[in-house]
Amino acid sequence: LERLMAPKDFSGQKVLVTAGPTREPLDAVRYLSNRSSGKMGLALAKAAWLRGAEVTFIHGPLSVSVPPYFKAVSVETAGEMAELVKKYFPEADMLIMAAAVADYRPKQVFPGKQKKAQKSLTIELEPTEDILATVASSKKPHQLVIGFAAEESEKLLEEARRKLKDKKLDLIVANDISRPETGFETDTNEVWLISASGKEEKVALAPKEEVAWRILDFVVEWLKG
Ligand code: CTP
Ligand code: CA
Repeated sequence: LERLMAPKDFSGQKVLVTAGPTREPLDAVRYLSNRSSGKMGLALAKAAWLRGAEVTFIHGPLSVSVPPYFKAVSVETAGEMAELVKKYFPEADMLIMAAAVADYRPKQVFPGKQKKAQKSLTIELEPTEDILATVASSKKPHQLVIGFAAEESEKLLEEARRKLKDKKLDLIVANDISRPETGFETDTNEVWLISASGKEEKVALAPKEEVAWRILDFVVEWLKG
């Protein structure tokens, strides 16, 4: 209820949010994917909507249900996600790229269901497009591009700072996926927020809804400053 009554500090803003895994087909019935649940991205979409944003939510296959009150489009592959993000980004004020996009896809997709005839099977993979980097390189000055960095503890901040810089992002959310309470498929998270201007802030362990709220607080504060 508190959140329903919250100031609409995102009203007039068009926010594009991605979430969940992608699925890269191997044949007609099999795919490569990852353990992303989409909960963090969904929490961000909900928080932005509650704060007045016009939300477009592009998501891979999710285990949680998507509310009917904002525009949601579902995709399967990284290629489809890339196409849709590029379609909606030009009119967005902000992109929050929380999706766990596959880095590689099978180079060949076998027609039908592949038989187990061979002794061993080698699958050749090719890289997918880095959606975030592509979009960030074409953004207009008023547009904000926010990425995530899924890392294992030791190099969390170092790697997140590198991704922020390499992909020319405005903000990165660094997520330690080596801990059970902050990894994939959990209801809680703890993140570091790092802005291009060098501001860094930790969001302590909390339910993903709370973490999403804090991320948007950081964005608002950062936009003011
Ligand atoms: N991302 C993307 N397109 C891809 C891969 C990743 O847009 N093909 C985005 C993710 O949505 C995330 C950010 O890039 O916002 C960082 O993803 P992450 O997996 O942490 O980093 P990568 O750049 O893919 O590098 P690596 O997996 O080697 O750590
Ligand atoms: Ca990756």
